[in-house]
Amino acid sequence: MTSRTESDYVLGTHDEEVARLGLQHRVWRSVVTECWERAGITHGCRVIDVGAGPGYATADLGEIVGPSGAVLAIERSGRFLEAARERCRRRGLSNVEFREADLMEHSLGDLQFDASWCRWVASFVSSPEKLVQNIAGALRPGAIAVFHEYSDYETFRFMPIKPALDSFCVEVMQSWRASGGEPNVGRGFPGLLRGAGYRILEIRPHVRTVSQRDYAWQWPKSFIEINIARLQDLGRVTAQWGADVLKEFAEVEADEGSWFTTPMFLEIVARRE
Ligand SMILES: C[S@@+](CC[C@H](N)C(=O)[O-])C[C@H]1O[C@@H](n2cnc3c(N)ncnc32)[C@H](O)[C@@H]1O
Repeated sequence: MTSRTESDYVLGTHDEEVARLGLQHRVWRSVVTECWERAGITHGCRVIDVGAGPGYATADLGEIVGPSGAVLAIERSGRFLEAARERCRRRGLSNVEFREADLMEHSLGDLQFDASWCRWVASFVSSPEKLVQNIAGALRPGAIAVFHEYSDYETFRFMPIKPALDSFCVEVMQSWRASGGEPNVGRGFPGLLRGAGYRILEIRPHVRTVSQRDYAWQWPKSFIEINIARLQDLGRVTAQWGADVLKEFAEVEADEGSWFTTPMFLEIVARRE
C-alpha cells in the first residue's frame, strides 16, 4: 500500500520519478560540485543532505567527504530513502547514514555538523521558515549551509511561444501551491535565513537556455511526460490537455530553431552564525 507520505508528495515517488531525479542531477551536477568546492565541502566534512530524495547528490557527497567525513541523508519518503541506500551501497560508501523523517514534524537535533546541502526541497514544505531553523539547529556555529531553490519558476518557457506548454508551467506551479508549497520560495530566503541566524555569503542565479541538441533538453522532455501523467492522477487536468501539451512538445522538438529556458533557481551559500 502507498503510505500517506508517498501519495502526498506532489511529484510522486514512483520509479520514473527516481530516474528523472537522476537525469536532473546529471544536468546540474557540474554546477553543484563547483558550488560545493567554493563552499569548502571537502575531505573530512560532516554534511547533512536535507530532503535527499533517491540520493544522487548524497552519493557524490559521500565520495567527496571520504572515509574521514560523514553524510547524513534526511528524507521523508521511505521509497526514495531505500533507493538512496542502494545507490550508496553500490558505490561502496560506508560513511553515509540515512534517516527517514519529516522535516516539518521532527527536529534534526543538535548534530554540530559542518555543512548542509538542501536542493529543491523548500518549494514543497508547508513552512520554509521551519525548514531553515531546523537546519540551523543541526549545524555548528560557523558551519556552511548551501541551498539551491527555485526563485522564478516562470522562466520555464519555450521559444517560439507555445500556449499549451506555457499552460503546463502554470499548472505545475498551481499544483505545488495546492499541496501547500511555493515554487518561488527562494525569493524569501534572504529574509528567512537572516531571521534564523545565518549570514549570507553569496547568492547566484542559475538559469540555462538549451536547444534539443543539448543533454539538458532531456530535462523538460522527461519532466513534461512524467508530470502530465501525475497531474492527471491528481485529477488536476484532462487527458485532452495532456495531449495538447505533448503535441506542442513534439512540435518544438522537431523544430531545430526551438529553445527552452530552465526555471531559475538561486544558489545561496550562508554561514550559521
Ligand atoms: C524535488 S525532490 C529533490 C530531491 C533531492 N534534494 C535532489 O536534489 O535530487 C524534493 C524532495 O524533498 C522531499 N521532501 C519534501 N517535503 C519533505 C519533508 N517535509 N521532510 C522531508 N523531506 C521532504 C521529497 O520527499 C523529495 O525527496
